[in-house]
Amino acid sequence: MRKMLIAANWKMNKTIPEALSFVQELTPMIEADNGVEIVICPPFTCLHTLKNSLEATGVKLGAQNLFWEEKGAFTGEISPLMLIDAGCSYVILGHSERRQIMGESNVIVNRKIKAALEAGLTPILCVGETLPEREKNMAMEVVKEQLLKSLSDISLAGKELVIAYEPVWAIGTGINASSDDAQEMIGFIRDYLAKIYDKSRADMVRILYGGSVKEENIAEFIAKEDIDGALVGGASLQADSLARIVRLSSNA
Ligand code: PGA
Repeated sequence: MRKMLIAANWKMNKTIPEALSFVQELTPMIEADNGVEIVICPPFTCLHTLKNSLEATGVKLGAQNLFWEEKGAFTGEISPLMLIDAGCSYVILGHSERRQIMGESNVIVNRKIKAALEAGLTPILCVGETLPEREKNMAMEVVKEQLLKSLSDISLAGKELVIAYEPVWAIGTGINASSDDAQEMIGFIRDYLAKIYDKSRADMVRILYGGSVKEENIAEFIAKEDIDGALVGGASLQADSLARIVRLSSNA
């Protein structure tokens, strides 16, 4: 049985005081164990402060990126060890904004996933097609290639991996994929994982949907057989909105 997971991707939003008041507002609105795992992925600058303020809540922390080296002359980068030090157990990797704006390739994502797993972090690997790719009926090909290259030479023995299917055209646009289309792709991802690894491993991997998730549509996604939660951007920036998404997920 895969535990439902709601991950909040704050992107480049919130100062430390804003993050703290978010947690103060969120904490009384969530139950300690309602069957849903909650992960907040704030900017790097908020991690350590949130580690302390989330300690008693059961809410976990994730980062939005890392660099694969342990330490050294890599100006501006953050290592897996530093993320663990700051309280992270998860890290989002291969988000389409990093792929498109920062030019991250599948090869780079692959190195980052390896480093994350080695350090004991759980990667949330993002995959998804652009609108032109979907219109050309290439969505599955694109996602398959992202999975094949990002997971190349990676053993998951004793490790945990989360995948987020995020169609690029649905991110931040208010236009979500239909739950049927999301289930179709996520079912395809699970079948493909069974080919790369094996069925029992594929059945253990949690696969999230992401792209304009909000309280009005979360229920239809998590009602689907293969969808184990959501990666939520815009709707995770308000504590009451995130709390409602979590509550609706616990009723799945
Ligand atoms: P959104 O972002 O929920 O604002 O569409 C999702 C994401 O980019 O992870």
